[in-house]
Amino acid sequence: MRGKKILVTGGTGQVARPVAEALAAENEVWCLGRFGTSGVAEELQAQGITTWQWDMEDDSEYAFKGLPEDFTHVIHSAVRRGDDGDFNRTIDVNVSATGRLMAHCRTAEAFLFVSTGALYARQTLDHAYTENDPVDGVADWLPAYPVGKIATEGAVRALARVLGLPTTIARLNIAYGPGGYGGVPMLYFQRMLAGQPIPVPLEGQNWCSPLYTSDIVRQVPRLWEAASVPATLVNWGGDEAVGITDCVRYLEELTGVPADLVPSEVTRETYRFDPALRRRLTGPCEVGWRDGIRLTLEALHPEHVRPEHVQPEHTRPEHAGR
Ligand SMILES: NC(=O)c1ccc[n+]([C@@H]2O[C@H](COP(=O)([O-])OP(=O)(O)OC[C@H]3O[C@@H](n4cnc5c(N)ncnc54)[C@H](OP(=O)(O)O)[C@@H]3O)[C@@H](O)[C@H]2O)c1
Repeated sequence: MRGKKILVTGGTGQVARPVAEALAAENEVWCLGRFGTSGVAEELQAQGITTWQWDMEDDSEYAFKGLPEDFTHVIHSAVRRGDDGDFNRTIDVNVSATGRLMAHCRTAEAFLFVSTGALYARQTLDHAYTENDPVDGVADWLPAYPVGKIATEGAVRALARVLGLPTTIARLNIAYGPGGYGGVPMLYFQRMLAGQPIPVPLEGQNWCSPLYTSDIVRQVPRLWEAASVPATLVNWGGDEAVGITDCVRYLEELTGVPADLVPSEVTRETYRFDPALRRRLTGPCEVGWRDGIRLTLEALHPEHVRPEHVQPEHTRPEHAGR
């Protein structure tokens, strides 16, 4: 993809930052956000990205004043997760900011909204969720989050039709890789390092469809190509179903750090996706989960990777890094 004018929200985050950085090589990229972390705006600017102050909580008429309107592609990844438990505020901020963003970028060729798989109604642990499975927005670990996403998906569907703006809603699974904190697998590894228990189901294990950073970066332009009116809806996960317990056992094997797996009534629930539609839209993933986990560990915790597991540079998957 080259020569496009691209707007990115959430461009300081785990998901969209590597996308913005990769696209900046051959496109004009603008990142909108608060840039509260010291130095992050400068780091993006150093890669040719234009940074622009935007707070989703700002509902004034000035929120977009001075921002160009001629963006060709938008990825809207920023989210107010609702960590404060305020359902109404979470719905209002996400829905209003997203609606205003879509209206501002109404002439774009494609708008991509990053949603979540956490909105699906829980079925069996190993169920492969399709786009037509029922949603209920129940997540004990962050109750307002999936409710805000369901509400925002509604706004996105409506605005796509009203504006005639080709749109894709991508319900993301676990994003992981060398950038940021590394994603959910590295949260488990941090618990292992700290000797903290990892709750696992009383029977079976939790399943997920993790997606490695470089596959995310590669698939975004394909998701823009898939944008339509009415909005295209797709489960955005990796090709492989991965058991969380299997993943933790692999972390043990790579590092020798033991995991304290504790069977529990309540665990961090994850979702396995049926990858069929996403594969049709984007083509297959390129980084297998074992390679992805090892590369992430090597980048973030190199001192813990047993020497026999460090892969020589020349045999690594192409573009496996950020
Ligand atoms: N990571 C995952 O595994 C995963 C899984 C499923 C779905 N998702 C979805 O993917 C998207 C990106 O997630 P992430 O993990 O990259 O998030 P993240 O690392 O937690 O970053 C959150 C981003 O949201 C922006 N943001 C938050 N509040 C904002 C506000 N009031 N105004 C403007 N920007 C604001 C932040 O920008 P500033 O730094 O400028 O404040 C930051 O870039 C989210 O929509 C999330 O729901 C992620």
